Parts: sequence; structure tokens; C-alpha cells
Amino acid sequence: MTAKIIDGKAIAAGIRLKLRERVKQRVADGARRPGLAVVLLGEDPASKIYVRNKINACAEVGFESRVHHLDDSTSQGDLLALIDQLNNDDVIDGILVQLPLPQQIDDNIIIEAISPAKDVDGFHPCNVGLLAQRRPGLRPCTARGVMRLLDEVGAVYKQGKTVMIGASNIVGRPTALELLIAGATVTVCHRFTEDMRAEVERADILIVAAGKPGLIPGEWIKRGAIVIDVGINRMPDGKLVGDVQFDSAVERAGYITPVPGGVGPMTVAMLLENTLRAAEM
Ligand code: GUN
Repeated sequence: MTAKIIDGKAIAAGIRLKLRERVKQRVADGARRPGLAVVLLGEDPASKIYVRNKINACAEVGFESRVHHLDDSTSQGDLLALIDQLNNDDVIDGILVQLPLPQQIDDNIIIEAISPAKDVDGFHPCNVGLLAQRRPGLRPCTARGVMRLLDEVGAVYKQGKTVMIGASNIVGRPTALELLIAGATVTVCHRFTEDMRAEVERADILIVAAGKPGLIPGEWIKRGAIVIDVGINRMPDGKLVGDVQFDSAVERAGYITPVPGGVGPMTVAMLLENTLRAAEM
């Protein structure tokens, strides 16, 4: 068996095309273009690439965007002042502060300072709480992207077992909450899980967001499973690899996402959807 490849790049391009049409219609109706502010501190090469991708995607669909690129020695007070200014800026619908932040800044204080109505990352405790209570507001982008890919291949949530590897605030936890809303029976594995192999072997749907290159050998994967690899790890030779050993996994899975070109572009597409939604709210 060779898995079908889930082409996140193409699916995301289709979503951007539809967003572009909705923006065109909005502007034709006399409304303002949606506006996204992206805040980046420091020079982390991966963060800079992610921010550039987000800004390019905004231009493609006709959003206004603004980058605030600050020094990595910026104080928490100065960052809070910028967020306050963006919260009160009428042309800004969405605010995204690229994580991780430098050590002098407390991520939680920054996330809580963003107005929940402009929290296009879906990380504010209000939005996380709404998701946990299954009445979602703005929803975390990577989790939404994973769900869209699963929907795309006709995943059946209400039968079989779903396993989420990784319990981070950014990916694992919100994805588990989304899966619960969809009716899945979800097991969340993390660094203290004693027998991860046994959990993976039972998974009809497997989602991996551990940030550990090649953590999951293909031999562990149930034949025919849907495998979503959220990992993006840069190897010493510059190559990007996922958390799943792709070459062996592709021999057993029914569907699998590639890295790159799987979840990554979907996260950006969901950020755009959230920004339009924030503008419409
Ligand atoms: N760093 C890695 N992923 C993300 C994300 O989805 N949002 C933000 N703000 N920072 C990130």
C-alpha cells in the first residue's frame, strides 16, 4: 500500500482564492479591506520566514498588512504599549505576535493583552475557553488547518481512534479540543506517555506535533491510517523534515501529509480566514 499524499499547498491555494473573491466583494460593497498586524521580535530565521509567508499571503488575498519588527531587547512594557495601540486601531482587525518571544517577555501576559476580538491566533484565554466549552470564537490556526485537511480526505471522526501526539498550547491542546467537537475519541500523548508505540498502533487518525524529527517510525502506523504531520524541523543539511518518518510511513498509511507542503500552508490560510472573520465581526 502506498499512501495518498494530502496536498496542503494546493488546498491552501484554493482557500486563498475563495478569500480573495470574498474580499473583492466586500470592497465592492464599500467595506474596508481586512487588516492584519504582525509583530516580530528579533531575528530568529524560522520566525522571519513564517512572518514573511503570512504577509505575502495577505497581499495575495487583498488584505492590508503591517509588520512591526522590533529589536529582541524590546521591553515587555514597550510591547504592551504597541498592543494597546493596535487594539485601538480601527484599520487593524487581527493582531498576531509571533512566538516564541525573547526571555524578558512573558508570553501569557502578551497573549492576554490582545483584544479577544482581534486575537486571530486564537490563543487568548477567552478564545481557548470558548473552544473548550464547544462554542468557538476565533480558533487556533494550525488546529483548524489540521481539521480542514482531515475533512478534505473524508475522515470519519465518530468511528475508530484518533491519537494526538503533542500537548502544546499552540497545536496539541487546541487540536484535541477541535477533534472532540467533531466527535472523535481522542488520546493525547506527550513526553510522559509510557508506551507511545502502543497508542500510535491503534490510531485510525494520527496527528503528530512534537517538534522532534522522525519521532514516529512508519512501522508503528496502522495500515490505512490518516497521518497528519505538523512537525517542521530543519536538519543540519538545511532539509526540512517532519516528526513522522515519511518514507516508511508512506508504505503503510492511507493518507499522509508531506513536509513541507502539508500543514504549514494551511496554518497561514486559516490565519487569513480568521482575519476576515474578525473584520466581519
Ligand atoms: N509560532 C509558531 N507557530 C505559531 C503560531 O501559530 N502563531 C504564532 N503567533 N506564533 C507561532
